[in-house]
Amino acid sequence: MKKTVIVSSPGKLIIGGEHAVVYGRRALVTSIGMRLYMQLTVDENTDKQTEKHLLNFILHDTNQRYSIDLSESSDTQPIEIEAVIYVYNQFKSSLSETGVFNIEVRSEIPIGAGLGSSAAFSVCLVGCFHLLCYGKLCLEDINELAYKVECLFHGTPSGVDNTISTFGQSLLYSRVSKKHLNFRLSNLAIIDTGIPKSTKRMVGLVRSFVENTPEEGEKILNDIETCVDAMVEHPDEINELFQRNQQLLKHLGVSIVEIDQIVEILLKNSISTKITGAGGGGCLIALTSTFTKEQILE
Ligand code: MEV
Repeated sequence: MKKTVIVSSPGKLIIGGEHAVVYGRRALVTSIGMRLYMQLTVDENTDKQTEKHLLNFILHDTNQRYSIDLSESSDTQPIEIEAVIYVYNQFKSSLSETGVFNIEVRSEIPIGAGLGSSAAFSVCLVGCFHLLCYGKLCLEDINELAYKVECLFHGTPSGVDNTISTFGQSLLYSRVSKKHLNFRLSNLAIIDTGIPKSTKRMVGLVRSFVENTPEEGEKILNDIETCVDAMVEHPDEINELFQRNQQLLKHLGVSIVEIDQIVEILLKNSISTKITGAGGGGCLIALTSTFTKEQILE
């Protein structure tokens, strides 16, 4: 018998509070209209000649293809395959004994740009197995396991990325609470520096800063949270708050020369720009007010 499930999940923009959220502070985050789509098809093996689960895995956007035996896991697999094996093991007892899994992934979310591609992947992966085994989606359960998958990718993330990818909309998020907000920004530009970033590396960099200079570190983290609260309470002041949040991120050490240059050029035109996500490359966000896309590009 053949069974197919398809799920999709959105990318995200952190409006304010990245990095501080790792240390329990609040972050403001919103989902975006770019999604990752995953299809899981299971061909259940009825003749039982092979007591195995085989996996064919295709990432269409990067043209990566893998075929593996899921029972023979090793640490030398690409991280996406490790993630599949991890999730498969969580659901193994609810699956039939043998068969072939075909997973196909297509994504509108650029990879490694800070727009939540890995979280959308983790959420879709858990969602597919959930739907296959239980015939429905329980978002709280999916989010919990997707967080563990995110830990494989990023070490000890805050959980903000998987949570927004699971629930969508906009959230005021901390490690202990999430509040849905009716938060909307118009004229928001996403600027891709084209420089790949590593969330794990940037989170490690901030950890060193906070551990080596705890007093200064704590003050910056608190100031970032104050910025976030002000963004929610006074959305009309968001341009100044972007600027303040960016200064604090720079102080934490997650900006780079290229980002500083973009921020400076746009600021000369009264446009405040900030990192969104981990920094060190990836994407920036800017409120463009009345400027057109062409003017911003110029
Ligand atoms: C990455 O999208 C956001 C960070 O705050 C890391 C995290 O929250 O886990 C940099």
